[in-house]
Amino acid sequence: MDIIYRPLEFSDLYEYKNLLSSLFSKGFVGVLFKELCDNPNGYFFAQGAFVEDKLVGFIVGIKEYGKVRQLSEFENGLCAVTGKQLANVPAVVVHENFHRKRIGLTLLNNFLAKIPDSATFVYVPHTNLAAQHFLETAGFCANATLRKFYDEFEDALVFMK
Ligand SMILES: CC(C)(COP(=O)(O)OP(=O)(O)OC[C@H]1O[C@@H](n2cnc3c(N)ncnc32)[C@H](O)[C@@H]1OP(=O)(O)O)[C@@H](O)C(=O)NCCC(=O)NCCS
Repeated sequence: MDIIYRPLEFSDLYEYKNLLSSLFSKGFVGVLFKELCDNPNGYFFAQGAFVEDKLVGFIVGIKEYGKVRQLSEFENGLCAVTGKQLANVPAVVVHENFHRKRIGLTLLNNFLAKIPDSATFVYVPHTNLAAQHFLETAGFCANATLRKFYDEFEDALVFMK
């Protein structure tokens, strides 16, 4: 199977939205798609995996998190403890028909290769065990739990690399 990895473009919007809403409960990663594609300052990394011209997976990464988000108290702490620039992965998603083919890992590693000196963190729902295993395979470690992060019933685990 040939898999092409390339930056997301505005013409991918329809497929991006479909994939996002089918697999990602909130249906929005906190960054507008247009902003991801325009990316004038290079803060974002938005890459898709394509099979026969169909989008089967993508990652949205924020290379310089502190430049696009106001850091929470917790994130300020991460910055102080690591002494590094923070990067974040709001979403990495692979269509279920294409799971376990290393597409997610390739997308994540492609992002990490761009930010070798940063500390990268990912918030994961405590119920999403698949994502937790996935991140551990990619070399991330669970470093904290944020109680009621998503809502009253759902905590977030913070994975760092
Ligand atoms: C998490 C997700 C992105 C993984 O994508 P993927 O392309 O299927 O994962 P990969 O094939 O790259 O997996 C690499 C390794 O991660 C681990 N892994 C991946 N999915 C796993 C699962 N469901 N259960 C346990 N381990 C898993 C395995 O160690 C796997 O290696 P292996 O297949 O040789 O055992 C995909 O399941 C997904 O889109 N989930 C829904 C969206 C989501 O939860 N995103 C948040 C991710 S932080």
